[in-house]
Amino acid sequence: MTAASEFSHCATPQFLSATVVEQEQMARATYRMRLECPQIAKLILPGQFFMVREPGVNDPLLGRPFALYDTCLDESGEPTGFDFGYVVVGKLTSRMTHWQPGDQVEIWGPLGNGFPQPGSGPLVMVAGGIGQTPFLATAREALRLRKFGQPQRNLDEFPAKVSLLYGARSKEYLAGLDDFRLQGLEVKVATDDGTFGHHGYVTDLLQQQIDSASPPATIFCCGPEPMMEVVSRMAIKAGITCWLSLETPMACGFGACFSCVAKVRISDEEWDYRRTCVEGPVFNAEALVF
Ligand SMILES: Cc1cc2nc3c(=O)[nH]c(=O)nc-3n(C[C@H](O)[C@H](O)[C@H](O)COP(=O)(O)OP(=O)(O)OC[C@H]3O[C@@H](n4cnc5c(N)ncnc54)[C@H](O)[C@@H]3O)c2cc1C
Ligand code: FES
Repeated sequence: MTAASEFSHCATPQFLSATVVEQEQMARATYRMRLECPQIAKLILPGQFFMVREPGVNDPLLGRPFALYDTCLDESGEPTGFDFGYVVVGKLTSRMTHWQPGDQVEIWGPLGNGFPQPGSGPLVMVAGGIGQTPFLATAREALRLRKFGQPQRNLDEFPAKVSLLYGARSKEYLAGLDDFRLQGLEVKVATDDGTFGHHGYVTDLLQQQIDSASPPATIFCCGPEPMMEVVSRMAIKAGITCWLSLETPMACGFGACFSCVAKVRISDEEWDYRRTCVEGPVFNAEALVF
């Protein structure tokens, strides 16, 4: 079974101090934070993540994982930091809303494998809720708008078409739609309550895309597990290569504690646990056991 790690060139994670540069509210209970941290900004690839911890705080003691949203560059084009989006769900994310420019945070990364090369056929990114965060950098790279990594990664091929299908509970939870207004990116939105875009699930939009004249050759997906399970089944049924980015809770982020395991098929009859933080978070849909 193919692992996404075969496609990416992951750098050794670093433990660092980063400075909060700015933060803004993107949607209901959803924020974008910018951290100054050139060391990680230079290395990180779309679909990779990093752990963040508040220094001097015992509760929560452990760091929390967040995906790269986008890098930010200085006037000469050098990466100086990066943005991530987060939704407030618990202890750390609640505390994070109070972080101010100039605050220092502990950070380690880049972590995980990231998304593989998208290939030359149509790429469809399917996002549910805060699962949209890995797709800004992914889209920018696939559309030749930004390069990532050191040395900068050159994709072997570029997708003929790039689409984002983005589903949220309601209009007030849609985050970063303006950021996704990129030259060449098709964006379709679904809301569960019909307050914006298609009234229904994002998987309805995916089915339309699969049935269209230019169906996806590759699907990248991130969101709630039930949504990813449905996307996985749809992709397998249609014979489309599909990569899922899991948001499994994590403790260490670098492979030491086994708190983040997912069931991965190792043969037709057998499965085994794989650590989402090092062997993932991106897995081939055919490999995952839901
Ligand atoms: C690789 C990766 C990338 C991620 N990227 C992002 C991102 O870009 N933006 C973002 O908002 N979130 C992201 N997450 C999820 C994020 O890490 C959690 O929301 C965060 O850890 C919550 O921390 P907390 O201290 O606020 O909540 P806690 O106090 O730890 O938990 C509060 C509640 O949320 C539940 N919970 C915590 N984490 C998860 C989870 N991952 N899945 C399901 N339930 C959970 C707990 O069981 C508890 O009920 C990512 C997770 C992974 C593994
Ligand atoms: S989070 Fe510790 S092994 Fe994955």
